[in-house]
Amino acid sequence: MSIENDLALISDFDKNYCLQVFAPLPVAFVKGKGSYLYDTQGAKYLDMIGGIAVNALGHGNPKLVSAISKQAKDLIHCSNYYYIPQRSELAYRLCRASFADKAFFCNSGAEANEAAIKLARGYFHYKEQDRYEIITAEKSFHGRTYGSMTATGQEKFSKPFAPIVPGFKYVPYNDIDAIKMAVTSKTAAIMLELIQGESGVNPADVEYIKAVKDICTEKGILLIFDEVQTGIGRTGKMFCYQNYGVTPDIITLAKGLGGGVPIGAMLCTDEVATGFKPGDHGSTFGGNPLACAAGIAVMEYFGEANLLDNVKLVSAFLFEKLNKLKNKYSCIKSVRGLGLLIGIEFDESVIASGLREELFRNGFLVSAIGRSVIRIAPPLILTKSQANQFVKALDSLLSTRMGGKSNPILNAFKNIGRKEAPAIKTPAAAPEETKPALPAPEEDGLD
Ligand SMILES: Cc1ncc(COP(=O)(O)O)c(C=O)c1O
Repeated sequence: MSIENDLALISDFDKNYCLQVFAPLPVAFVKGKGSYLYDTQGAKYLDMIGGIAVNALGHGNPKLVSAISKQAKDLIHCSNYYYIPQRSELAYRLCRASFADKAFFCNSGAEANEAAIKLARGYFHYKEQDRYEIITAEKSFHGRTYGSMTATGQEKFSKPFAPIVPGFKYVPYNDIDAIKMAVTSKTAAIMLELIQGESGVNPADVEYIKAVKDICTEKGILLIFDEVQTGIGRTGKMFCYQNYGVTPDIITLAKGLGGGVPIGAMLCTDEVATGFKPGDHGSTFGGNPLACAAGIAVMEYFGEANLLDNVKLVSAFLFEKLNKLKNKYSCIKSVRGLGLLIGIEFDESVIASGLREELFRNGFLVSAIGRSVIRIAPPLILTKSQANQFVKALDSLLSTRMGGKSNPILNAFKNIGRKEAPAIKTPAAAPEETKPALPAPEEDGLD
């Protein structure tokens, strides 16, 4: 039996047999090429969200496909009872590209953050210091396992599942005084995203991050950056911390690292690595040959394709064009982010989930955050011309909404995307986020 091309059957099976924790759009993708996805009807979509910042090399990248095909033929899994050449090589590549001396591999962002939290506590335990508190930011997102969910500074994710893990404190983001007040002699680590992706693409201030680093240095506190979303070239540097001129003790990675193959990683210094002794931490699948072969292919492709240059080029183009739209339409309140992680915030006249659906019907995939933010995190291979198609489609949709004019631009795209999508049940919009106090960052980044 195959249900592969029958959307009605797929969705029936999903409703009947899958735990209903997602609210999918009425579409199933069966093929991807470059920055495009194709659904069961063969309709084509420009993927401006890249599997939520995962498909760094786009879809069907020949280098990645050939690396994992070859590795699957040779050896998929053998366990961490043995040396794994691909694990050793990927660790070497990640350490060479960053501040880190050591890498630990797992399978997801949440697991990478679990490792970071445990390592920070283990570090002080083995130093015989009674320090265990972890300070994280309000509106952060670090994952859905108990440690990472507790680290997440949004009660809505953990409230039904109390009691959460003890020893966490939450402070307003970008507020250095709040961190100073929260630090005690028990503080083990401060854990932050450099851009809060899941709560609306809110970048940290450079001065704030520098001041946090100073506090960590002064008080002997470990600094952890969650780079699950911002790492692996997403912001125009291999790691986002490199935009800030601040070196952490630990970073966590996942999403783009395997280009779609599940893999997570935690990188740290030799000093901090003393927080785990043999047997203290592990993962059956983590660091397996297949996932690490994918990671190596991704890392190699960055050099071969000058991917970071492309991120900077297309990012500058998108910021310029989106800021022009902001000047044209008063409903756009802010365009912010870094590299190819961009949030477009609207006023109350636009419901982000509704706009996401209109874009979807016209062949463009984005995500909606809360009531007011559209996030784009496309493949890092996106071209200027594809970025331009997206901007024109957004322009056209907004102009139709605002002025009821005809829609010449979308007509030009009528071969892209589903023309008659089934009715969509819109999930109840999340409560509106507090408006970010920060001005939009300069489009040329934080260098
Ligand atoms: C910053 C950040 N940390 C952690 C996670 C959790 O990653 P995963 O879903 O792979 O567990 C995410 C996922 O969106 C994320 O954006």
